[in-house]
Amino acid sequence: MNLVGRARRRESDITSLINTPNAPLFRPRTVVIGAGVMGLSIAWRLAQAGCAVTVYDRGEAGHGASWAAAGMLAAAVETEPGEETLLGLTLESQRQWPDFARELRAATGMSVGYRDEGTIVVALNRDDAEQLRFTYDFQKRLGLDIEWLSGAAARQREPHLRPGIPGAVLSPNDHQVENRALAAALAAAAKQAGAIIHEHCPVREIETTGDRVRGIVTADSRVPADIVVLAAGAWSRDIGGIPAAYVPPVRPIKGQMLALRMDPAVPLLRHVIWLPRGYLVPRLDGRLVIGATVEERGFDDSVTAGGLLALIEGAWRAVPAIEELPVVETWVGFRPGSRDDAPMLGPSEIEGLVVATGHHRNGILLTPVTAQSISRYILTGKLAENLRPFSPERFAMPSAAALALTGAAQ
Ligand code: GLY
Repeated sequence: MNLVGRARRRESDITSLINTPNAPLFRPRTVVIGAGVMGLSIAWRLAQAGCAVTVYDRGEAGHGASWAAAGMLAAAVETEPGEETLLGLTLESQRQWPDFARELRAATGMSVGYRDEGTIVVALNRDDAEQLRFTYDFQKRLGLDIEWLSGAAARQREPHLRPGIPGAVLSPNDHQVENRALAAALAAAAKQAGAIIHEHCPVREIETTGDRVRGIVTADSRVPADIVVLAAGAWSRDIGGIPAAYVPPVRPIKGQMLALRMDPAVPLLRHVIWLPRGYLVPRLDGRLVIGATVEERGFDDSVTAGGLLALIEGAWRAVPAIEELPVVETWVGFRPGSRDDAPMLGPSEIEGLVVATGHHRNGILLTPVTAQSISRYILTGKLAENLRPFSPERFAMPSAAALALTGAAQ
């Protein structure tokens, strides 16, 4: 069966659950594995709809990739050749962001630091400018709202940019949120709506009978569930119980980052600044987040001299005045990357197991649309069109030989 066929079969599986005599009251008991922004936002939406939702995390809620991220909502400037399929989803999520932030604030009283000054991509030399022009032309052809700026025009908007930069691109719709505040607000909203969050409680195993989910197992309990949502980011393949053929092929992509402290009354920057290799994200509280390396080093969480040097040197070449700023934090995060770098969203080969991981560089941006589409799928059995290209089933190895590999890929 092809992917669309399999996805449609999964829809009818869930629809058959819903179309029972007590259908109007059916709200699946749901376990969410992973209390990052994906798991928490899905839990929030499901709890709002009246589902009994329990969330498990191996650590503290919101302290994985959601904590490490920079919070950029960069649908336009992060789109590179080969990523056109994702654009519909990223633009839709970007469109949802202002209401999502407002709704979270109304529900919890907590701000997620949504800022809408936009993003400026800076070229530091002629080679960068040529590359930037190529990317600009590509993004323009996709219909993205971006504008070429001379170096002088960029410096008018951001006077601390180095004099003499050859050019820049303004992306007026690529904004930012404070991702740590976002995770905290989502946890509060989910709890307020009735979800239960268990921290420092790793899920050992997803329990199945035949090809249907029955629940999950932790160190000290067995929890039955109609639906299990696998949203454990880069750790998603460490959960036992999934036949090897269907384990989402997600891996950690290390990012080193640091933060400097600006005077919040006179911040050096207002826009998010993108550089040829890295970015600077000014926060309202005066933190200036600088990121990020992209490294294939498994779960190695060391902050290295080379990593920091590259980040600081790149940032300093664009904004020399950072030289005076104190370093207040360094950290490492693990982006969940899939085999094709696109997310895995929707039903899996195991009935009742829904996947929401592999968001790679776009997790914070994709939070509203992921929460909306995944929760709607769970509640209605209908898979939104915009999720179809991201079916986790595109990676399934259907052969019996692959099934026999259980455990080998974990
Ligand atoms: N989206 C920025 C990063 O992954 O570093």
